[in-house]
Amino acid sequence: MSDSSTRAPKALVLVGGYGTRLRPLTLTVPKPIIDFANRPMIVHQIEALKAAGCDEVVLAINYRPQVMMDFLKEWEEKLGIKITCSQEPEPMGTAGPLALAREILDNKEGVPFFVLNSDVVCEYPMKQLMEAHLRTGAEATILVTKVTDPSKYGVVVMDEQNKVERFVEKPQTFVGDSINAGIYCLSPSVLARIEPRPTSIEKEVFPAVAADGRLYAMQLEGYWMDVGQPKDYLTGLALHLGSVRQRSPGDLAEGPHISGNAIIDESAKIGKGCLIGPNVAIGKLCEIGDGVRLSNCVILNRVHIKNYALVADSIIGWSSKIGSWARVENKAVIGEDVFIKDEVYLNGAIVLPHKDIKESILEPGTIIM
Ligand code: GDD
Ligand code: MG
Repeated sequence: MSDSSTRAPKALVLVGGYGTRLRPLTLTVPKPIIDFANRPMIVHQIEALKAAGCDEVVLAINYRPQVMMDFLKEWEEKLGIKITCSQEPEPMGTAGPLALAREILDNKEGVPFFVLNSDVVCEYPMKQLMEAHLRTGAEATILVTKVTDPSKYGVVVMDEQNKVERFVEKPQTFVGDSINAGIYCLSPSVLARIEPRPTSIEKEVFPAVAADGRLYAMQLEGYWMDVGQPKDYLTGLALHLGSVRQRSPGDLAEGPHISGNAIIDESAKIGKGCLIGPNVAIGKLCEIGDGVRLSNCVILNRVHIKNYALVADSIIGWSSKIGSWARVENKAVIGEDVFIKDEVYLNGAIVLPHKDIKESILEPGTIIM
Protein backbone atom coordinates (compact mmCIF):
# COMPACT_ATOMS: atom_id res chain seq x y z
CA MET A 1 0.00 0.00 0.00
CA SER A 2 1.28 3.47 -0.82
CA ASP A 3 1.49 6.24 1.75
CA SER A 4 -1.29 8.21 0.12
CA SER A 5 -3.81 5.43 0.69
CA THR A 6 -2.88 5.06 4.36
CA ARG A 7 -3.15 8.69 5.40
CA ALA A 8 -6.70 9.64 6.39
CA PRO A 9 -7.86 13.12 5.37
CA LYS A 10 -8.00 15.93 7.96
CA ALA A 11 -10.54 18.73 8.25
CA LEU A 12 -10.61 22.26 9.57
CA VAL A 13 -13.80 23.95 10.72
CA LEU A 14 -13.88 27.75 10.81
CA VAL A 15 -15.53 28.29 14.15
CA GLY A 16 -14.40 31.85 14.95
CA GLY A 17 -16.45 34.95 15.31
CA TYR A 18 -18.77 36.06 18.08
CA GLY A 19 -21.96 34.90 16.39
CA THR A 20 -23.47 38.35 16.86
CA ARG A 21 -26.28 37.65 14.40
CA LEU A 22 -27.52 34.82 16.61
CA ARG A 23 -27.73 36.96 19.75
CA PRO A 24 -29.15 36.63 22.36
CA LEU A 25 -28.49 32.87 22.13
CA THR A 26 -24.76 33.37 21.59
CA LEU A 27 -24.50 35.58 24.69
CA THR A 28 -24.39 32.39 26.76
CA VAL A 29 -23.46 29.60 24.32
CA PRO A 30 -20.93 29.75 21.43
CA LYS A 31 -22.68 29.48 18.05
CA PRO A 32 -21.20 26.14 16.86
CA ILE A 33 -22.44 24.28 19.92
CA ILE A 34 -25.98 25.65 19.86
CA ASP A 35 -28.26 22.72 19.10
CA PHE A 36 -29.63 22.38 15.60
CA ALA A 37 -32.28 19.62 15.45
CA ASN A 38 -31.22 18.55 18.95
CA ARG A 39 -27.50 18.16 18.26
CA PRO A 40 -24.83 20.85 18.38
CA MET A 41 -24.46 22.41 14.94
CA ILE A 42 -20.85 21.41 14.68
CA VAL A 43 -21.59 17.79 15.64
CA HIS A 44 -23.58 17.34 12.41
CA GLN A 45 -20.44 18.39 10.53
CA ILE A 46 -18.01 16.30 12.55
CA GLU A 47 -20.20 13.21 12.08
CA ALA A 48 -20.19 13.74 8.32
CA LEU A 49 -16.40 14.17 8.33
CA LYS A 50 -15.96 10.99 10.33
CA ALA A 51 -18.25 9.14 7.89
CA ALA A 52 -16.05 10.37 5.02
CA GLY A 53 -12.99 8.80 6.65
CA CYS A 54 -11.44 11.83 8.38
CA ASP A 55 -9.47 10.99 11.51
CA GLU A 56 -8.93 14.52 12.84
CA VAL A 57 -10.87 17.76 12.89
CA VAL A 58 -9.22 21.05 13.78
CA LEU A 59 -11.50 23.71 15.21
CA ALA A 60 -10.19 27.16 14.31
CA ILE A 61 -11.29 29.32 17.20
CA ASN A 62 -10.75 32.88 18.28
CA TYR A 63 -13.31 33.13 21.06
CA ARG A 64 -13.97 31.19 24.29
CA PRO A 65 -11.94 28.08 23.35
CA GLN A 66 -12.28 26.44 26.76
CA VAL A 67 -16.08 26.25 26.61
CA MET A 68 -15.79 24.65 23.18
CA MET A 69 -13.15 22.15 24.18
CA ASP A 70 -14.90 20.99 27.37
CA PHE A 71 -18.00 20.42 25.38
CA LEU A 72 -16.29 18.61 22.53
CA LYS A 73 -14.34 16.24 24.82
CA GLU A 74 -17.56 14.35 25.25
CA TRP A 75 -18.13 14.19 21.49
CA GLU A 76 -14.54 13.22 20.70
CA GLU A 77 -15.19 9.93 22.49
CA LYS A 78 -18.75 9.47 21.26
CA LEU A 79 -17.84 10.01 17.62
CA GLY A 80 -14.42 8.34 17.72
CA ILE A 81 -12.50 11.15 16.02
CA LYS A 82 -9.67 13.37 17.20
CA ILE A 83 -10.82 16.95 17.76
CA THR A 84 -8.15 19.58 18.24
CA CYS A 85 -8.33 23.28 18.76
CA SER A 86 -6.28 25.92 17.00
CA GLN A 87 -6.59 29.21 18.78
CA GLU A 88 -5.81 32.43 16.98
CA PRO A 89 -3.98 35.24 18.76
CA GLU A 90 -6.24 37.61 16.79
CA PRO A 91 -9.05 36.85 14.29
CA MET A 92 -7.29 35.45 11.21
CA GLY A 93 -10.23 35.56 8.84
CA THR A 94 -11.27 32.56 6.75
CA ALA A 95 -7.81 31.67 5.34
CA GLY A 96 -5.29 32.65 8.06
CA PRO A 97 -6.38 29.72 10.28
CA LEU A 98 -5.26 27.28 7.56
CA ALA A 99 -1.73 28.63 7.77
CA LEU A 100 -1.80 28.30 11.57
CA ALA A 101 -2.83 24.64 11.26
CA ARG A 102 -0.35 23.91 8.46
CA GLU A 103 1.46 21.19 10.43
CA ILE A 104 -1.72 19.14 10.62
CA LEU A 105 -3.08 19.83 7.13
CA ASP A 106 0.11 19.69 5.05
CA ASN A 107 1.52 16.35 3.92
CA LYS A 108 3.97 15.25 1.28
CA GLU A 109 1.61 12.58 -0.07
CA GLY A 110 -0.70 15.37 -1.26
CA VAL A 111 -3.78 14.06 0.55
CA PRO A 112 -6.46 16.78 0.31
CA PHE A 113 -8.25 18.15 3.36
CA PHE A 114 -11.68 19.65 4.02
CA VAL A 115 -12.56 23.14 5.23
CA LEU A 116 -16.04 24.07 6.47
CA ASN A 117 -17.75 27.22 7.64
CA SER A 118 -19.30 26.17 10.95
CA ASP A 119 -22.67 27.80 10.26
CA VAL A 120 -23.77 25.95 7.12
CA VAL A 121 -26.16 23.00 7.12
CA CYS A 122 -26.79 20.51 4.31
CA GLU A 123 -26.40 16.77 3.79
CA TYR A 124 -22.58 17.20 3.70
CA PRO A 125 -21.60 15.05 0.69
CA MET A 126 -17.94 14.97 1.75
CA LYS A 127 -16.99 11.74 -0.02
CA GLN A 128 -18.42 12.93 -3.34
CA LEU A 129 -16.65 16.26 -2.89
CA MET A 130 -13.30 14.50 -2.38
CA GLU A 131 -13.91 12.29 -5.42
CA ALA A 132 -14.81 15.28 -7.61
CA HIS A 133 -11.70 17.09 -6.35
CA LEU A 134 -9.40 14.17 -7.18
CA ARG A 135 -11.05 13.61 -10.57
CA THR A 136 -10.38 17.13 -11.89
CA GLY A 137 -6.96 17.52 -10.30
CA ALA A 138 -8.06 20.88 -8.91
CA GLU A 139 -6.17 22.73 -6.20
CA ALA A 140 -9.45 23.72 -4.58
CA THR A 141 -13.02 22.48 -5.06
CA ILE A 142 -15.97 24.44 -3.71
CA LEU A 143 -19.45 23.08 -3.05
CA VAL A 144 -21.98 25.40 -4.69
CA THR A 145 -25.72 25.82 -4.36
CA LYS A 146 -28.33 28.12 -5.89
CA VAL A 147 -30.08 30.86 -3.92
CA THR A 148 -32.55 33.59 -4.79
CA ASP A 149 -30.54 36.41 -3.16
CA PRO A 150 -26.86 35.79 -3.99
CA SER A 151 -25.71 39.22 -2.75
CA LYS A 152 -25.17 37.94 0.83
CA TYR A 153 -22.77 35.22 -0.34
CA GLY A 154 -19.75 34.41 -2.46
CA VAL A 155 -20.86 33.99 -6.07
CA VAL A 156 -19.21 31.35 -8.24
CA VAL A 157 -19.24 31.51 -12.04
CA MET A 158 -18.14 28.32 -13.77
CA ASP A 159 -17.92 26.71 -17.21
CA GLU A 160 -19.51 23.43 -18.38
CA GLN A 161 -16.66 21.41 -16.86
CA ASN A 162 -17.31 23.10 -13.49
CA LYS A 163 -14.07 25.03 -13.76
CA VAL A 164 -14.50 28.29 -11.87
CA GLU A 165 -14.00 31.39 -14.01
CA ARG A 166 -14.80 33.95 -11.34
CA PHE A 167 -15.33 34.04 -7.60
CA VAL A 168 -16.91 37.26 -6.32
CA GLU A 169 -17.54 37.68 -2.60
CA LYS A 170 -20.78 39.59 -1.76
CA PRO A 171 -21.25 41.11 -5.24
CA GLN A 172 -22.94 44.51 -5.45
CA THR A 173 -24.35 43.74 -8.89
CA PHE A 174 -25.74 40.47 -10.26
CA VAL A 175 -23.00 38.05 -11.29
CA GLY A 176 -24.85 34.73 -11.05
CA ASP A 177 -26.96 32.73 -8.63
CA SER A 178 -24.60 29.84 -7.85
CA ILE A 179 -23.02 30.56 -4.50
CA ASN A 180 -20.24 29.23 -2.32
CA ALA A 181 -21.87 26.85 0.17
CA GLY A 182 -18.93 27.31 2.57
CA ILE A 183 -17.52 23.77 2.22
CA TYR A 184 -14.25 23.05 0.41
CA CYS A 185 -11.85 20.29 -0.47
CA LEU A 186 -8.31 21.66 -0.78
CA SER A 187 -4.98 20.19 -1.86
CA PRO A 188 -2.02 20.90 0.43
CA SER A 189 -0.37 22.97 -2.34
CA VAL A 190 -2.91 25.72 -1.60
CA LEU A 191 -1.17 26.27 1.75
CA ALA A 192 1.80 27.82 -0.09
CA ARG A 193 -0.54 30.70 -1.01
CA ILE A 194 -1.55 31.48 2.58
CA GLU A 195 0.38 33.30 5.29
CA PRO A 196 -0.42 33.24 9.00
CA ARG A 197 -2.04 36.69 9.06
CA PRO A 198 -5.69 37.84 8.75
CA THR A 199 -6.64 36.71 5.26
CA SER A 200 -9.92 36.06 3.46
CA ILE A 201 -10.07 32.78 1.55
CA GLU A 202 -12.95 34.21 -0.47
CA LYS A 203 -11.36 37.54 -1.44
CA GLU A 204 -7.69 36.62 -1.64
CA VAL A 205 -7.15 32.89 -2.11
CA PHE A 206 -9.99 31.71 -4.37
CA PRO A 207 -9.61 34.48 -6.98
CA ALA A 208 -5.89 33.62 -7.23
CA VAL A 209 -6.53 29.87 -7.61
CA ALA A 210 -9.25 30.63 -10.20
CA ALA A 211 -6.81 32.82 -12.16
CA ASP A 212 -4.47 29.80 -12.34
CA GLY A 213 -7.35 27.68 -13.66
CA ARG A 214 -7.25 25.34 -10.67
CA LEU A 215 -10.49 26.22 -8.88
CA TYR A 216 -13.43 23.86 -9.46
CA ALA A 217 -17.00 23.66 -8.20
CA MET A 218 -19.30 20.80 -7.34
CA GLN A 219 -23.07 21.23 -7.34
CA LEU A 220 -24.62 20.43 -3.97
CA GLU A 221 -27.72 18.22 -4.03
CA GLY A 222 -30.54 18.77 -1.55
CA TYR A 223 -31.05 21.53 0.95
CA TRP A 224 -28.57 24.16 2.08
CA MET A 225 -28.73 27.03 4.57
CA ASP A 226 -26.39 29.37 6.41
CA VAL A 227 -28.00 29.24 9.85
CA GLY A 228 -26.04 32.17 11.29
CA GLN A 229 -29.20 34.23 11.98
CA PRO A 230 -32.51 33.35 13.67
CA LYS A 231 -34.77 33.52 10.61
CA ASP A 232 -32.42 31.35 8.55
CA TYR A 233 -31.87 29.00 11.48
CA LEU A 234 -35.62 28.31 11.57
CA THR A 235 -35.77 27.92 7.78
CA GLY A 236 -32.76 25.59 7.97
CA LEU A 237 -34.48 23.47 10.60
CA ALA A 238 -37.55 23.04 8.39
CA LEU A 239 -35.35 22.02 5.43
CA HIS A 240 -33.31 19.67 7.60
CA LEU A 241 -36.38 17.94 9.05
CA GLY A 242 -37.73 17.53 5.51
CA SER A 243 -34.49 15.77 4.62
CA VAL A 244 -34.68 13.58 7.76
CA ARG A 245 -38.20 12.61 6.63
CA GLN A 246 -36.66 11.27 3.39
CA ARG A 247 -33.56 9.60 4.86
CA SER A 248 -34.55 8.33 8.33
CA PRO A 249 -38.19 9.03 9.16
CA GLY A 250 -37.82 6.94 12.34
CA ASP A 251 -35.93 9.88 13.93
CA LEU A 252 -39.03 12.09 13.72
CA ALA A 253 -41.80 12.25 16.34
CA GLU A 254 -45.01 10.35 15.60
CA GLY A 255 -48.47 10.45 17.14
CA PRO A 256 -51.90 12.06 17.03
CA HIS A 257 -50.51 15.26 18.62
CA ILE A 258 -47.87 15.67 15.90
CA SER A 259 -48.58 17.56 12.69
CA GLY A 260 -45.82 17.51 10.05
CA ASN A 261 -42.13 17.13 10.89
CA ALA A 262 -40.97 17.42 14.50
CA ILE A 263 -38.08 16.06 16.51
CA ILE A 264 -38.53 15.55 20.24
CA ASP A 265 -35.79 14.40 22.62
CA GLU A 266 -36.79 11.24 24.45
CA SER A 267 -36.22 12.90 27.84
CA ALA A 268 -38.79 15.63 27.10
CA LYS A 269 -42.23 15.36 28.74
CA ILE A 270 -45.25 16.29 26.64
CA GLY A 271 -48.67 16.94 28.22
CA LYS A 272 -52.11 15.94 26.99
CA GLY A 273 -53.88 17.48 24.03
CA CYS A 274 -50.86 19.31 22.59
CA LEU A 275 -50.48 20.13 18.91
CA ILE A 276 -46.83 20.04 17.84
CA GLY A 277 -45.51 20.82 14.37
CA PRO A 278 -44.73 21.41 11.69
CA ASN A 279 -40.97 22.06 11.90
CA VAL A 280 -40.43 21.87 15.64
CA ALA A 281 -37.43 20.71 17.69
CA ILE A 282 -37.84 20.06 21.42
CA GLY A 283 -34.62 19.47 23.36
CA LYS A 284 -33.56 17.50 26.41
CA LEU A 285 -35.51 17.61 29.68
CA CYS A 286 -38.11 20.05 28.37
CA GLU A 287 -41.50 19.97 30.06
CA ILE A 288 -44.44 20.85 27.89
CA GLY A 289 -47.82 21.23 29.64
CA ASP A 290 -51.30 20.29 28.42
CA GLY A 291 -52.87 21.85 25.33
CA VAL A 292 -49.66 23.58 24.23
CA ARG A 293 -49.41 24.62 20.56
CA LEU A 294 -45.95 24.68 18.96
CA SER A 295 -45.16 25.34 15.31
CA ASN A 296 -42.03 26.33 13.36
CA CYS A 297 -40.02 26.77 16.50
CA VAL A 298 -37.03 25.55 18.46
CA ILE A 299 -37.35 24.76 22.15
CA LEU A 300 -33.82 24.37 23.53
CA ASN A 301 -32.90 22.10 26.46
CA ARG A 302 -34.65 22.31 29.85
CA VAL A 303 -37.39 24.75 28.81
CA HIS A 304 -40.72 24.54 30.68
CA ILE A 305 -43.88 25.59 28.87
CA LYS A 306 -47.05 25.71 30.91
CA ASN A 307 -50.56 24.71 29.86
CA TYR A 308 -52.20 26.22 26.77
CA ALA A 309 -49.22 28.40 25.82
CA LEU A 310 -48.42 28.94 22.13
CA VAL A 311 -45.00 29.30 20.47
CA ALA A 312 -44.77 29.93 16.74
CA ASP A 313 -41.88 30.95 14.43
CA SER A 314 -39.57 31.56 17.39
CA ILE A 315 -36.61 30.22 19.36
CA ILE A 316 -36.79 29.63 23.12
CA GLY A 317 -33.42 29.57 24.94
CA TRP A 318 -32.24 27.01 27.48
CA SER A 319 -34.01 26.71 30.85
CA SER A 320 -36.54 29.43 30.08
CA LYS A 321 -40.07 29.25 31.47
CA ILE A 322 -43.19 30.22 29.58
CA GLY A 323 -46.39 30.78 31.53
CA SER A 324 -49.79 29.31 30.76
CA TRP A 325 -51.82 30.95 27.99
CA ALA A 326 -48.70 32.94 27.05
CA ARG A 327 -48.13 33.54 23.34
CA VAL A 328 -44.67 33.89 21.78
CA GLU A 329 -44.55 34.36 18.03
CA ASN A 330 -43.31 36.15 14.92
CA LYS A 331 -39.53 35.53 15.07
CA ALA A 332 -39.15 36.10 18.80
CA VAL A 333 -35.79 34.96 20.16
CA ILE A 334 -35.68 34.29 23.89
CA GLY A 335 -32.26 33.99 25.55
CA GLU A 336 -31.24 31.53 28.24
CA ASP A 337 -33.12 31.43 31.55
CA VAL A 338 -35.89 33.91 30.78
CA PHE A 339 -39.18 33.87 32.68
CA ILE A 340 -42.34 34.78 30.80
CA LYS A 341 -45.39 35.34 32.95
CA ASP A 342 -48.78 33.69 32.38
CA GLU A 343 -50.88 35.23 29.59
CA VAL A 344 -48.10 37.49 28.29
CA TYR A 345 -47.97 38.09 24.51
CA LEU A 346 -44.55 38.53 22.86
CA ASN A 347 -44.73 39.63 19.24
CA GLY A 348 -41.25 39.24 17.70
CA ALA A 349 -39.41 40.32 20.85
CA ILE A 350 -35.69 39.69 21.37
CA VAL A 351 -35.14 38.95 25.06
CA LEU A 352 -31.65 38.83 26.58
CA PRO A 353 -30.72 36.08 29.06
CA HIS A 354 -32.00 36.03 32.66
CA LYS A 355 -34.91 38.48 32.20
CA ASP A 356 -38.35 38.40 33.80
CA ILE A 357 -41.06 39.41 31.35
CA LYS A 358 -44.29 40.40 33.09
CA GLU A 359 -45.96 42.47 30.39
CA SER A 360 -46.80 41.92 26.74
CA ILE A 361 -44.54 43.32 24.02
CA LEU A 362 -46.44 44.18 20.89
CA GLU A 363 -43.86 45.95 18.73
CA PRO A 364 -41.89 43.37 16.65
CA GLY A 365 -38.10 43.57 17.03
CA THR A 366 -38.21 45.14 20.51
CA ILE A 367 -35.03 44.20 22.38
CA ILE A 368 -35.33 43.59 26.11
CA MET A 369 -31.96 44.10 27.83
N1 GDD B 1 -11.38 30.92 13.13
C1 GDD B 1 -11.98 31.93 12.52
N2 GDD B 1 -11.38 33.16 12.56
N3 GDD B 1 -13.16 31.73 11.91
C2 GDD B 1 -13.74 32.80 11.31
C3 GDD B 1 -13.19 34.08 11.32
C4 GDD B 1 -11.91 34.27 11.97
O1 GDD B 1 -11.33 35.35 12.02
N4 GDD B 1 -14.02 34.92 10.64
C5 GDD B 1 -15.08 34.17 10.24
N5 GDD B 1 -14.92 32.89 10.67
C6 GDD B 1 -15.83 31.78 10.42
C7 GDD B 1 -17.28 32.02 10.84
O2 GDD B 1 -17.51 31.59 12.17
C8 GDD B 1 -18.03 31.15 9.84
O3 GDD B 1 -18.10 29.80 10.29
C9 GDD B 1 -17.16 31.20 8.59
O4 GDD B 1 -15.85 31.57 9.02
C10 GDD B 1 -17.69 32.19 7.54
O5 GDD B 1 -17.84 33.46 8.17
P1 GDD B 1 -19.23 34.23 8.13
O6 GDD B 1 -19.03 35.50 8.85
O7 GDD B 1 -20.36 33.35 8.53
O8 GDD B 1 -19.29 34.58 6.58
P2 GDD B 1 -20.56 34.78 5.65
O9 GDD B 1 -21.67 33.87 6.03
O10 GDD B 1 -20.86 36.23 5.56
O11 GDD B 1 -19.96 34.32 4.20
C11 GDD B 1 -19.26 33.10 4.05
O12 GDD B 1 -20.17 32.00 4.01
C12 GDD B 1 -21.08 32.01 2.88
C13 GDD B 1 -21.93 30.76 2.98
O13 GDD B 1 -22.68 30.81 4.14
C14 GDD B 1 -18.43 33.14 2.76
O14 GDD B 1 -17.62 31.96 2.75
C15 GDD B 1 -19.32 33.18 1.53
O15 GDD B 1 -18.53 33.10 0.35
C16 GDD B 1 -20.29 32.00 1.56
O16 GDD B 1 -21.18 32.09 0.43
MG1 MG C 1 -22.11 32.65 7.65
